[in-house]
Amino acid sequence: MPSKNPLAGLAGRNFLTTDDLSDSELEALLELAARFKARGPGALLAGRILGMVFFNPSLRTRASFEAGMFQLGGHAIDLSIGQGVWKLEHRDGTVMDGDAAEHLREAVPVLARYCDLLSVRCFPSGKDWAVERTDPILSGFAAYSDVPVINMESSLYHPCQALADLLTIREKLRKTKGKRFLLTWCRHPRALPTAVPNSAALIASRAGMRITIARPPGFDLDPDIMARVRANARKSGGSVEVVDGFEAGFDGADVVYAKEWGSLDHYGDDAAEKALRARHTDWMVGARQMKRTRDALLMHCLPVRRNVALADEVLDGPWSVVVDEAENRLHAQKALLVALAGKAGPKAKTRTAARARR
Ligand code: CP
Repeated sequence: MPSKNPLAGLAGRNFLTTDDLSDSELEALLELAARFKARGPGALLAGRILGMVFFNPSLRTRASFEAGMFQLGGHAIDLSIGQGVWKLEHRDGTVMDGDAAEHLREAVPVLARYCDLLSVRCFPSGKDWAVERTDPILSGFAAYSDVPVINMESSLYHPCQALADLLTIREKLRKTKGKRFLLTWCRHPRALPTAVPNSAALIASRAGMRITIARPPGFDLDPDIMARVRANARKSGGSVEVVDGFEAGFDGADVVYAKEWGSLDHYGDDAAEKALRARHTDWMVGARQMKRTRDALLMHCLPVRRNVALADEVLDGPWSVVVDEAENRLHAQKALLVALAGKAGPKAKTRTAARARR
């Protein structure tokens, strides 16, 4: 008889984007995360090891995964590429006479022999969006690993952040269907990646929210992501609109999700991108904007630059849930780790069984 626990089907799978999850899997993961938050998880992953591969810096992701594995009775190995760990090549057919000492084709299967789960953070390089939008490093990990791979933020997605974000919205608003979700672009001195706004829009569209994306012209998200956001919204009973102006989107919003990102129109052309970004220095969220909302939750994935993207008065004001959001990374990821490791469902596949099928 098939298992009634939707999480059993996640055992042995990769988690690269929230769109990898069915509606019932997403719901069950969030319920498990809420249970772990209320009552603690227990040592469900005793003896299990997570290998965390970081190509880029992190505070929350690194600390929450390591803390989560400890709380689950397991262990996390921090592998920061280029800092005591060999630099890795991911392109095929490359003559490896540069900085990289090792290729993903060897490094990933070796790590999979030591670890029960692998996680990877790999930001885009900022050179060629046509290449970056294929998520080449994350795809390499998924191809060469025979244990589950978790995306800790890639070129396209930050799905662990999105799980924590939806958990936070559900805690605070209870109901998500029909609520107004404003994803607003904010200023920043550098062209940041689009993984967080992509994942924020994707998860809000799964939750039946009425989404407004406010960004200056030239800062559209990738068209394939937008197509999926629209498809998700159609299925969930939500809606999506994209607006140019900064102020109007705040009217009646229940959630303000603030994020800085660079222009894909000028991806790889730093000077042109910077010149475009410099024309929109007024895009900083302050109390004046938040007062137009329905006492909205102010969300941001962090790290955030005070008085650049968000004013002190809103980060320190009644709207901000940014620390709760960061805490929920811990609970959401513990639920995810347990599910992927096959410890969340009665008929979960074992690692050995998953390997034997390959
Ligand atoms: N939000 C987030 O992923 O934070 P870090 O970059 O510090 O991990």
